[in-house]
Amino acid sequence: MQTDSSFTFVLFGGTGDLSMRKILPALYEAHRAGMLADSGKIVGVARHEEDRAGYIDWVNGHVKPYVSKDGLDEGVWESFLARIEYVKLDLSKAEDFVLLRDAVNKLSGTRVFYLATGPSLFVPICHALASVGLNENARIVLEKPLGYDLRSSNAINDAVGEIFAEEQIYRIDHYLGKEPVQNLLALRFGNALFEPLWRREWVESIQITIAEELGVEARGDFYDNTGALRDMVQNHLLQLLSIVAMEPPHSMDSDSVRDEKLRVLRALKPIDPRDIQRVAVRGQYHAGVIRGTAVPAYATEPGVKKDSTTETFVALKVEIENWRWAGVPFFLRTGKRLADRVAEIVVNFRPVPHSALGPTALRPGANRLVIRLQPNETIRLYCLAKQPGEGMNLASVHLDLAFDQFFRENQMEAYQRLLLDVINGRLALFVRRDEQEAAWRWVEPILNDWSAANKAPKPYAAGTWGPAAASAMLAQHGTCWLEEEN
Ligand code: BG6
Repeated sequence: MQTDSSFTFVLFGGTGDLSMRKILPALYEAHRAGMLADSGKIVGVARHEEDRAGYIDWVNGHVKPYVSKDGLDEGVWESFLARIEYVKLDLSKAEDFVLLRDAVNKLSGTRVFYLATGPSLFVPICHALASVGLNENARIVLEKPLGYDLRSSNAINDAVGEIFAEEQIYRIDHYLGKEPVQNLLALRFGNALFEPLWRREWVESIQITIAEELGVEARGDFYDNTGALRDMVQNHLLQLLSIVAMEPPHSMDSDSVRDEKLRVLRALKPIDPRDIQRVAVRGQYHAGVIRGTAVPAYATEPGVKKDSTTETFVALKVEIENWRWAGVPFFLRTGKRLADRVAEIVVNFRPVPHSALGPTALRPGANRLVIRLQPNETIRLYCLAKQPGEGMNLASVHLDLAFDQFFRENQMEAYQRLLLDVINGRLALFVRRDEQEAAWRWVEPILNDWSAANKAPKPYAAGTWGPAAASAMLAQHGTCWLEEEN
């Protein structure tokens, strides 16, 4: 479906890493799929290139390699380039924003300003846009990290909020744009089957894992000042948790969904600083081996301090204080340089109350739903069945749902979906300010404890599943991480 109307998409940080790897390739894919209105224009904004010709050269040299090989068609690529304009802009020069305004005023349609820049530039850019009247009837897109803690995130939101109304602000969490995350909503609210079981009476525990094989790549400096709690938990993991745990929304309109997610975030049991050792594990990778290749320790990565105490792994036990979930532990986990790249949600149902069929039926996790978000989106439902032969011996079997067997279409990339939503004015997949505040408020005691204690995180070898303490935390609840099942 084509975007509703024409648009002018202004990309600050137009020669940055994010523009190169994600934003421009996603816009190309949308263009190739015929989803952008013909008259829509993209305006790259940067300091480095002199003029449009220079910018087009840069796009050809840097962005093209990130377009999927199957999707690259020279004719289509040329027609994509024809959408691109360029404005050379120095943020410190007010007159450059006058030039930007003049360039944008020549173009038509919905105005989108995408800030693919560091967060320290968000407020100055917004002020400069307002000084030339470009904030009116426009949408602004902010990339994470939005602040460093509750205070700094409030400071940015207050300042941006003076210039743009909340309905004009699109805060990106790219996990919300992923097809499988959308599918989680479909699974929960499009089927009557699971919903009655989706509560404390039937669910024993839930795990949510986002594991990466990659290390910090070229982002050592940024990451060392950020850490996994800010980089992954405050946003992606808490957003996934809120979708897993939310009440059915009245509709899929933006505020119905976001209101329900907010209710979950506000119901997270506050972490008592005295409990942190028990409910939060932080780790840092040492040298190890991933898929047969030796990889270095975090502390020796470029840009990382040698004596860094930044965490590259977090595991948490979280509780939700409401009728549906009281007492059910949610175990969240994320880390870099782990044994596998996987994002999945594991719902462990309670065992039968009494087994006439022997102890197997009483084993935790005998009934379990595993929702694999990436790679290879699948849903697997584990049950017990009788093993053939004499006697009543039970064995674990599973029903598998692999989405690529049902749908031939390729999945749409998260950024493509989110950019189309911005252009079309759909806010549901963007994080509202109150959600973001609730998430920061909840992680704050952990952040404070970890920065004050200044203790080293627990070491783990790259290529493993993180520190042993993460397994011990689950063992206290009589359970284990999915990969630890025999
Ligand atoms: C980003 C983090 O938000 O998400 C990165 O900053 C992380 O550190 C990435 O690697 C993971 O996203 P995905 O889509 O590859 O799972």
